[in-house]
Amino acid sequence: MHALRIGFLLLTLPAYLQAARILAIFPFPGPSQYINVVPYLKELAGRGHHVTSVNAFPQKKPVANFRDVFLPDVFDNYNELINELSEPMNLWQGNNAINKFFVDITRCVLANKEVTETLLPPGKDHFDLIIVEALRSDAYYGFAAHFNAPIIGISTYGTDWNIDSLVGNESPLSYTPLATGGLTDRMTFLERLSNFVDTTVAWINFKFVHMPEQEKMYAKYFPEASQRVKLTDLNRNFSLVLLNQHFSLSFSRPYVPNMIEVGGLHISHKPAPLPKDLEEFIQGSGEHGVIYFSLGSNVLSKDLPAERRDLILKTFASLPQRVLWKFEDDKLPGKPSNVFISKWFPQPDILAHPKVKLFITHGGLLSTIESIHHGKPVLGLPFFYDQILNVRRATQAGFARLESITRQ
Ligand SMILES: *[C@@H]1O[C@H](CO)[C@@H](O)[C@H](O)[C@H]1NC(C)=O
Repeated sequence: MHALRIGFLLLTLPAYLQAARILAIFPFPGPSQYINVVPYLKELAGRGHHVTSVNAFPQKKPVANFRDVFLPDVFDNYNELINELSEPMNLWQGNNAINKFFVDITRCVLANKEVTETLLPPGKDHFDLIIVEALRSDAYYGFAAHFNAPIIGISTYGTDWNIDSLVGNESPLSYTPLATGGLTDRMTFLERLSNFVDTTVAWINFKFVHMPEQEKMYAKYFPEASQRVKLTDLNRNFSLVLLNQHFSLSFSRPYVPNMIEVGGLHISHKPAPLPKDLEEFIQGSGEHGVIYFSLGSNVLSKDLPAERRDLILKTFASLPQRVLWKFEDDKLPGKPSNVFISKWFPQPDILAHPKVKLFITHGGLLSTIESIHHGKPVLGLPFFYDQILNVRRATQAGFARLESITRQ
């Protein structure tokens, strides 16, 4: 028995010797972004690596080999940004708003007490690999120079001109639309022109407004590394970029070999059983089945204007189907009996349910990928950022319809 055990130990020893210390930085305050990567980080921890994850959604139960560094401050400006982005803005103001938000997030990471006390002091800790959310937050890429470690970027929505630059990829503007523009790969001359102008304005804003702020923070928090390595060399020296995207739901486009699509990375292949009350509600829908309605975690259904909400409720009441609505309040006045509200739903498990017939969604990329994985058609009510583009693509691919509820 002993011999067996020692034999086993010797066999697994190489794996232990290769265990890496990994620093992961995923500060975005929207939970879906972190949901996308946390299975990957936990898998690394499960394989014996030591993962330190700087994030806004710490684990509820301790996970072996996994340390959370909690960033409570990132929530402060978030709601403000969401409201701001729903207002009409010109191109320059839009870029300013987004870039300011990313500068604030970068500062939240680098000024965090646990980060300044345990990660930044020279010689205090060491990491073999840095994995970051590729979010125009260049100053914290400084950890790669600080620890002299390779750096990997993960993007939760695919690539753009800015993420491209991390590994020297190209997105030809004639057929790769900017994520925010709502265009497809079949653009008219005017649309291509607008894609070019939008990208150029974003690039100018990044280079002349955003980067100087990042440079300042890089010099401040990495006084030693910033003497050795220029930030503009760091931010084009990524070893690998993983994209939450998949060619089957995006457009044809080129990638350099170290930019890899891993869309669906977060989906578990075995759906978990639903909570009892949910399962009963779904089973009670009879032959008509169930519609699942969620606007994601950034736009709150409870904040919809009252007349929109009433319109939606009236429509739901007239349907033979039952409806699950992710609604963030305990009470929904006038809720018809065929509507079930909850602040949270196990979305992938619901989409996996055979009685669920339609997904009404804001069109976030994770939701789009999940609906494809589970073969559910989509009614898209996009709000902002890449959502319009995701729903357009889904419409082009034939499994979605697009409606607008933000404008009259
Ligand atoms: C680029 O990355 C490689 C691999 O991690 C590293 O050896 C090199 O020093 C980096 N160069 C710069 C300028 O950061």
